[in-house]
Amino acid sequence: VYGTSSTPLLTVSQYACKRRTTTVNNNKILTDALEVLAESYEFKEIPGRCLAFRRASSVLKSLPWAVRCLRDTEGLPCLGEHSKAVMEKSLSFGNALFTSVFGVGPKTAEKWYRGGLRSFSDVLAAPGIHLNRMQQSGFLHYGDISRAVSKAEARALGNLIDEAVRAVTPDAVLALTGGFRRGKEFGHDVDFIVTTREPGKEEKLLTGIIERLKQQGLLLYCEYNASTFDMVKLPSHQFEAMDHFAKCFLIVRLEGGRVEGGLHGAEGDGRGWRAVRVDLVSPPMDRYAFALLGWTGSRFERDLRRFARAERRMLLDNHTLYDKTKKEFLAATTEKDIFAHLGLEYIEPWQRNA
Ligand code: CTP
Ligand code: MN
Ligand code: MN
Ligand code: MN
Repeated sequence: VYGTSSTPLLTVSQYACKRRTTTVNNNKILTDALEVLAESYEFKEIPGRCLAFRRASSVLKSLPWAVRCLRDTEGLPCLGEHSKAVMEKSLSFGNALFTSVFGVGPKTAEKWYRGGLRSFSDVLAAPGIHLNRMQQSGFLHYGDISRAVSKAEARALGNLIDEAVRAVTPDAVLALTGGFRRGKEFGHDVDFIVTTREPGKEEKLLTGIIERLKQQGLLLYCEYNASTFDMVKLPSHQFEAMDHFAKCFLIVRLEGGRVEGGLHGAEGDGRGWRAVRVDLVSPPMDRYAFALLGWTGSRFERDLRRFARAERRMLLDNHTLYDKTKKEFLAATTEKDIFAHLGLEYIEPWQRNA
């Protein structure tokens, strides 16, 4: 039980799947700082750190009040030394300028900073600095991709992707996932799942969509990861940053200038288009429910896995659910099936903003 004179009495579970977290985030500055670091460590494949920052951020998101000083966090679960240090810093300063660039992690950011660089123009003008392709597009589209994507823009992108999907495979399945499926008003990207009813054609669908966007001149950046999915593999005991489905990380050109509900950004003005980060993942149809649950994301989904393992002796990931006691895979065609297997009350996507 947690409470101080200034805050209401509240029990905060260490499990996000036992908390109800809406899109109202009273601690956005802190959770943004923690998530920038979490994401960088995810890219650098340092899972422990990434996990710790994600859990800390998730706990702060569930609070119905704003943290104003470290003392406010006494008694809360999942806040380690590192997270507290980050929180202390961003409660006093505001940092992490370089890590806010797509493709720039904390190591690179620190290297640049220690080398005396203080601004983007310092970096771009510095001799002997090599930017990889991802970082180049990160700087090129910095203004656009650091500007939040609105729900209306996500919808417009959905139409654009839907059009490409239909052109490749008319009866394909397309679903919005990620933060926008959780009902968020704004996001840092737009995530979709695409698959085919006919098994084995889903990867071709994905490359077809990419090809079409390219032909339309809408593809500003594309990192494509082919499928490495293997059904016999058990869900990993370890934290896995990524699943094994075919997927791509894109920067897409969204035409139409300001879509109603979009933010007013200096760059958008008069230009008639903006760049948006888009993720597409393409699981086989029989893995759809697991992929949808996984990609709907947030800390909630990570804690579902932790809960499954710790409390049910089951292994859950983006591909499958395995019961270690019964030694069998549990089938699911919907998310509700998966919650039921886990003996959990179903929680709607918009209550999963942990
Ligand atoms: N994901 C993944 N591998 C990645 C990136 C994302 O598997 N490299 C999946 C994860 O399951 C994650 C989900 O996609 O939980 C959504 O991730 P992301 O788009 O980063 O976050 P959102 O919750 O959509 O929030 P945002 O508005 O910041 O995009
Ligand atoms: Mn997203
Ligand atoms: Mn994100
Ligand atoms: Mn994403």
